[in-house]
Amino acid sequence: MSTKILVTGGTGYIGSHTAVELQQAGYEVVIIDNLSNSNAGVIDGIESITGIRPVFVEGDCTDIATLRRLFEENPGIKGIINFAASKAVGESVQKPLLYYRNNLNTLINLLDLMPEYGVEGIVFSSSCTVYGEPDFNPIDENAPIKPATSPYGNTKQISEEIITDYVHSGAPIKSIILRYFNPIGAHPSAKIGELPLGVPQNLVPYLTQTAAGIRKELTVFGDDYDTPDGSCIRDYIDVVDLAKAHVIAMKRMLSPEDTQKIEIFNLGTGRGLSVLELISAFESATGVKVPYRIGARREGDIEKIWACPDKANNILGWRADVPITETMRNTWAWQQHIMSPGKQG
Ligand code: NAD
Ligand code: UFG
Repeated sequence: MSTKILVTGGTGYIGSHTAVELQQAGYEVVIIDNLSNSNAGVIDGIESITGIRPVFVEGDCTDIATLRRLFEENPGIKGIINFAASKAVGESVQKPLLYYRNNLNTLINLLDLMPEYGVEGIVFSSSCTVYGEPDFNPIDENAPIKPATSPYGNTKQISEEIITDYVHSGAPIKSIILRYFNPIGAHPSAKIGELPLGVPQNLVPYLTQTAAGIRKELTVFGDDYDTPDGSCIRDYIDVVDLAKAHVIAMKRMLSPEDTQKIEIFNLGTGRGLSVLELISAFESATGVKVPYRIGARREGDIEKIWACPDKANNILGWRADVPITETMRNTWAWQQHIMSPGKQG
C-alpha cells in the first residue's frame, strides 16, 4: 500500500511540482490549498503529467476544524509537507499580522493535530532568508541566524523555533526543515510552473514577462555591489530539483532507521549567479533578448548569498543537477504556455 502524504499549499508553485514528484515516486498525495495564491486548474496539470489525480481539498489551514475534517476523511496520512504560507516580502511589511496569522497558525494547527492522527513527520519550507547578509559564502547550516529583515522572514525563523521546541518537548513527531535558496524554472512539460499574480516582484518571472513583451524592460537593481560585475549574486535552484529533495527528505524522515528527530538542510546548487549572468543565461538558452536597464539598488537586498549544499548532498544523497540553460528553457516554455489562448497568466 502506498504511503499517504498531505501537501499543504499543493496547488502553489513549489507544492505542485512536489506533488508530481511524490506521485511519480509512488506516494499517494492529498492536497489542501485555499487558492489565495494559485488556482484549482493546477490539479489538472498535475494529473496530466502523472496520470493520477491527487485528492484536493479547497480549505484554509488556519481553520483547525477544516484540517480535522481532512484527517477524518483521509485516514492514514503519514507525513506532511507544509508549503502553505503567504510569501511576498514587501506585502509582509505592510500587513504583518496577516503574515504572522497565516504562516504561524497554519504550522501550529498542523503540529497540534499530528499526534492525534498518527502523522509521523513534517517537512517544512524555510528559506535562506534566515541567514540575512552572510559573513561568508558558501553558507552552511551552522551559520548564525541573523535578525529578520521582514515579517515574512521572521515567520520562517519563528516557525523553525516552534518546530524545534515542539520536537524537543517530546512530541511524537519528526521534522526536516529545508532552507531553500532561490527556486526558479518550471516543469519540463510546461504544464505547471509559477503563476505570479500582478506585477512580479521576483527576478525570473519579471524577466520572462519582459522577454514576452508584457513588461517594457527589466530593471537590474544596482550594479555597484562588491561582486565581479556589480550586480547581486544568488543561488538559483531549479524547482524540479527542489521538489525531488522533498521526496528524499520524506522517505528519510519516515524511515524507521532514521533516528534523527529534527534536521535542517540547505537546498541550493552551491553556485552563485549574478543578475547580469542570469540575464545572459536566459538569452543564450532561448535566443530571446531581454531589454534591461541598470537601476537603483532595491532596499533591503542582500548583496551575495549562495549555499553550501554539502549536508544535503552527503546525508540525503541529493544534488541539484538541472543545468541553468535547461531551467531557462523550461521557464520560457512555461511563460509561452500561460500566454497561449485560453490559459491563465
Ligand atoms: P506559492 O504562493 O506559489 O504557494 C503557496 C500556496 O499556499 C498557494 O497555493 C496558496 O494559495 C496556499 N496557501 C497560503 N496560505 C494558505 C492557507 N492558510 N491554507 C491553505 N493554503 C494556503 O508559494 P511557493 O513559492 O510555492 O512557496 C511555497 C513555500 O516555500 C512557502 O512556505 C514559501 O514561504 C516557501 N519559500 C518559497 C521561496 C520562493 O522563492 N518561492 C523561497 C523560500 C521559501
Ligand atoms: N532583481 C532585479 N530586478 C528585478 C527583481 C529582482 O534586479 O526586477 C534582483 C534582486 O535585486 C536580487 C535578485 O534579482 O538581487 C533576486 O531577487 P528576487 O526578488 O527574485 O529574490 P530574492 O533573493 O530577493 O528573494 C527571494 C524571495 C524571498 C526568499 C529568498 C530566498 O523573494 O522570499 O528569495 O529564498 F526569502
